[in-house]
Amino acid sequence: MNDPAALRIAHQARYGVEPHVYVAPGRVNLIGEHTDYAEGFVMPAAIDFATLAAISPRTDGRIVIFAQNFDEERSWPIDELPSERSKHWSDYPLGILSILAGEGYQLPAFSLTLWGDVPLGSGLSSSAAVEVATITAVTGLMGVTIPGPQIARLSQRAENEFVGANCGIMDQFISANGAADHALLLDCRDLSFRLAPIPDSMALVIANTMVKHAITGGEYATRRAEVEEACRILATHRPEIKFLRDATVEDLAQWGHEIPPDAFKRARHVITENNRTVAAADALLANDMATLGRLMHQAHVSYSQDFEASCEEADTMVELAQDLPGLIGARLTGGGFGGCTVNVVEKDKAPAFARALADRYQKATGIAPQIHICHASAGAHRIS
Ligand code: GLA
Repeated sequence: MNDPAALRIAHQARYGVEPHVYVAPGRVNLIGEHTDYAEGFVMPAAIDFATLAAISPRTDGRIVIFAQNFDEERSWPIDELPSERSKHWSDYPLGILSILAGEGYQLPAFSLTLWGDVPLGSGLSSSAAVEVATITAVTGLMGVTIPGPQIARLSQRAENEFVGANCGIMDQFISANGAADHALLLDCRDLSFRLAPIPDSMALVIANTMVKHAITGGEYATRRAEVEEACRILATHRPEIKFLRDATVEDLAQWGHEIPPDAFKRARHVITENNRTVAAADALLANDMATLGRLMHQAHVSYSQDFEASCEEADTMVELAQDLPGLIGARLTGGGFGGCTVNVVEKDKAPAFARALADRYQKATGIAPQIHICHASAGAHRIS
């Protein structure tokens, strides 16, 4: 898997200079889906799938980026960086460079080698890991220290403004600010957060349905538009509702009939999900795993039925986990429409849980899933 020493050697062999190596993790979201852009709450954890970035200075005025996974190099003079996306892996690092330049940073010449093992299109934030790894490495080379929440904001802007995916801040935030053995309850309004320890007796089992999702695709944008539409309608009655974060179930009961049916259901998901997410953090902090599991289950039902962002395979994966020994809670994680489920499982039962779930899923769907037993990891940092 993840081998910073091998990356260091490969970078040095290719560019002749010993690099500094940085890591930025992917994430799994325990609860709080499609709430981030409604200025609500999310509770993700960083995981041990990550992007590694090896960086060293150059003297020829060029920026050279090598993606080891694709065995492909791209290179530009510093002052001729592309200003638009090309639907290529390089959009992610270029987005970061474009945002940094726009913020007035003088970009240095450098060679950057990127490598990652966050499965692509699986709802585990492979894009955020590349963005945060790039910004951490480049600012590290520049000797500039940017606080974690701001790293997240700049990386989100790279994704929104350059890559063209209108995501919220959750993925970049947890990649930059995650803490080992902890989930992080983030208030997406002011970026304040609380860490909640994941008990040592628990494992995070991530089950990949193998159904690909893409947040640049239409569904994510459609859902977001529906959430915003519901918000606008409620705000005509209560102008202090700037985002759905500000709305309550009572508001929905009172004025919901004015909202088109689909947007109404999306709003009901977001409003109840915010409540569940805060309650889930309290449960985790109180070591009340039964409550956490119940909230995760309710969150999945809401995500599937009200937000309609699940798919048959993900519903099957969640269903098949229910009576397996050791399960605390299971739900579809991430942007939706495929990807992975997250299962909080008693650690000593996790290997048997993973095997049984894989077996059941393959029998039910004919698809061989990938199932990983993960740990909550630290956010982006330099590896010495
Ligand atoms: C994707 C986006 C996040 C968030 C989730 C859904 O991962 O990048 O900002 O909206 O979907 O919770």
